[in-house]
Amino acid sequence: MALDLPARTAPAHHDDPLATLPADFRWGAATSAYQIEGAVAEDGRTPSIWDTLCRVPGAIDNGDTGDVACDHYHRMPADVALMRRLGLDTYRFSVSWPRVQPHGRGPANPAGLAFYDRLVDELLGRGITPWLTLYHWDLPQELEDAGGWPVRDTAHRFADYAELVHERLGDRVGHWTTFNEAWCSAMLGYVEGVHAPGRRNFADGVAAVHHLHLAHGLAAQRLRAAATRPLDIAVTHILSNTVPASASDLDREAARRADALGFRFYLDPVLRGSYPEDLVADLAARGVRIPVEDGDLEIISTPIDTLGVNYYRSFRASGTAEDGSTTTPDGLPVTRGLPMGDRPTTHLDWEVMPDDFADLLTRIARDYPGIPLVITENGAAYDDKPDASGFVADADRTAYLASHLAAVAEARSRGADVRGYLVWSLLDNFEWAYGYDKRFGIVRVDYETQERIPKQSALWLRDTIAAHRARHA
Ligand code: FCB
Repeated sequence: MALDLPARTAPAHHDDPLATLPADFRWGAATSAYQIEGAVAEDGRTPSIWDTLCRVPGAIDNGDTGDVACDHYHRMPADVALMRRLGLDTYRFSVSWPRVQPHGRGPANPAGLAFYDRLVDELLGRGITPWLTLYHWDLPQELEDAGGWPVRDTAHRFADYAELVHERLGDRVGHWTTFNEAWCSAMLGYVEGVHAPGRRNFADGVAAVHHLHLAHGLAAQRLRAAATRPLDIAVTHILSNTVPASASDLDREAARRADALGFRFYLDPVLRGSYPEDLVADLAARGVRIPVEDGDLEIISTPIDTLGVNYYRSFRASGTAEDGSTTTPDGLPVTRGLPMGDRPTTHLDWEVMPDDFADLLTRIARDYPGIPLVITENGAAYDDKPDASGFVADADRTAYLASHLAAVAEARSRGADVRGYLVWSLLDNFEWAYGYDKRFGIVRVDYETQERIPKQSALWLRDTIAAHRARHA
C-alpha cells in the first residue's frame, strides 16, 4: 500500500544549505478547495464561478471539471493521515465560499461549515497547524451575477463571509489568509478571460484588484475584532521579478510599467497604504482610474502579521512587446511580461529560476521591511511517468524543490525574514484551465481509483523535514 513509505531517500550533508533554517521553520503543503474537494453539489453547496466556467466549451483543457477532483471531501481523514506520515507541520487549505454561504450572502450553511470543522479537528488531532485561506478563486456564482469583483459590494459580502467562517472555526484556527493571488483573480479572470469568470475588460480588472484589496482589509478588521485568541492574519500574493530584456531605456521603462502593474499594485496598498504614483499615471494614460473612495486605503493597510508569497517564475519586459504598455490583438493590455527564455522549463513551459526567487525575496524584504514572509506556494508541474506500481521517481520536481528551498535559505542569509515553506501541492489536482493533465503534486493521484501514491519528491521532503528536526533536536 502506498502509505508504507520507503526508507530515507537523501542523506543529510554537512554543507546542506538548509542547515541554516531556524528550528521553528514551518514545513507544509498547500491545496485549494475547488482543485481537490469535488462534491460540488453536496450538502447545500451552490455553483461557483469555476463550476460555471467548466461548463463553457473549450474553456478547460480536455473538458475537465472540478466535479470530482481528488474526492478530498470524502477522503479527507486519509489525506490528513498522509500529511502526518510525511511529517508536515502545516497544511494550507482554502474554504469554499459557496459551500459555507451558498448564496454569497445571508446565513451560513451548517453542513458546509461542518466539513471544515472536521478538517480542522483532524489536523489538530495529528499535530498539524491549519492555515486557512478564505478565498482561492471560487466566488459564488450568485455574486458574479450581481457584478462580481468589479463591484464594490462584493467586498462587503466577503467581510460578512469571513466573519461567518471565523464564528465557527476561530476558536481553533490561528492562521487566517484572506486572499490567494488577487492578480490571478483580477487579471486572468476579468482581463485575460482565461480564468473564471472569463471576462475581458481592463477597467473591470483594475476595479477588481481594488475591491479584492478592500475586501482583504475589511475582513482583516472583522477578524481582529472578533478574535478570541491571537490571530496571525495574512494575505497571499503571486509575485515575480520583471527583468528588462536589455539595458535600453525602452526596455527598462517597460520593466518599470510591468512591475507597477504586476507587483507594486499588490503590495503597496496593503503594506504602505498607497497606490504607486507611476501606476496611477500609467492607468490614467489608458483612461482607467482605480475606484478608490475616502478611507479605503486606511482599511486596506490594516496591519497584518504575515505576507504569503507564491512564486513560480519571473518575467522579462521589452519596450516593444508584451510589457504592460502594448495590447493583445483584440486591444486588451497585456498584464505580465515575456517568458525569460534560455532556461530549463517545466511541463507548463514555466522557466525554472531559483536565483530569481532569492532575488525576489531579498527585494521584498528591502522594499517592504518588517513583515514576516511565508512561502505559501512554490512547486512545479512535470510530465510524471509512473512505474508499474504507480510510483513516480520525479527527480526533476525533487531538484526543483531542493533548489528553491536553497534559494529561501540564501534569501534569509541576505536578510529576508522567511519563516516557512508550503509546497504546491500536496496532491495532483485540477490545475484550473489546464485541467488534470498538469500535475503539481508531491503525491500522485490515480484519478481512476483515487489512490494516493507519494512521489520521490514527497519522500525527499519528508526526509528533509526529518533531517531539519534532527538537527534542532
Ligand atoms: C497558483 C495557484 C494555485 C495553482 C498554482 C500552480 O497561481 O494559486 O492554485 O494553480 O498556481
